Amino acid sequence: MTQVSPSILSADFATLGQQCQAVLDAGADMLHFDVMDGHFVPNLSFGVPVLQSLHKALPDAFFDVHLMITHPLSYVEAFAKAGAGCITFHVECDSDVQETIDAIHKAGCKAGLSIKPGTPVEAVLPYLDQLELVLVMSVEPGFGGQSFMPMALDKLRTLDAICKEQNRNIWLEVDGGIDATTGALCTQAGANLLVAGSAIFGKPDLAQAVQQLRQL
Ligand code: DX5
Ligand code: ZN
Repeated sequence: MTQVSPSILSADFATLGQQCQAVLDAGADMLHFDVMDGHFVPNLSFGVPVLQSLHKALPDAFFDVHLMITHPLSYVEAFAKAGAGCITFHVECDSDVQETIDAIHKAGCKAGLSIKPGTPVEAVLPYLDQLELVLVMSVEPGFGGQSFMPMALDKLRTLDAICKEQNRNIWLEVDGGIDATTGALCTQAGANLLVAGSAIFGKPDLAQAVQQLRQL
């Protein structure tokens, strides 16, 4: 079963609460919350207070927090307190990876580790037994609405094979340029969690967009 995590980066922020409610009503499994610091990636988005408000407004929603920031360790506790369900950070960041995973678990959240397009899957393997999620980026992180990079498919295939071999049942998530066509390629390659921003919030019928991806 494919799960879908709509990226609210592409939502209309003037009606953010309603848009989140709408995708959840449409069957979205969680909400993808993209945090950017203008340093790890060349863009700024939103942070802890926005998560806090959304969590308060939507107490049953699961927040899939994607930290595209240089020092994730410094913010784990704040995002956990604000309502994060899973906190994913980048293996390319400046925080100690092991310490950050430990801090996420200690804060009561699931831990995810992400790789940028230029980073090989081998970078996450030493941590695989401690992770609830691995996120393969299929665009350079920083902006919504970019084109899918097919090289992500090989990474998904490799990770899927390793997880099967090791009998690990984790979320294999892919993020960037996902629509019905690229999403289908990703699920065939082993992804079980699709992030989609513009392919959901850019569509007039949010419900149909979510359902289409969940059926892949
Ligand atoms: C990119 C973000 C993505 C992005 C996806 O840096 O991590 O979550 O919002 O947007 P689309 O689906 O439009 O590529
Ligand atoms: Zn993301």
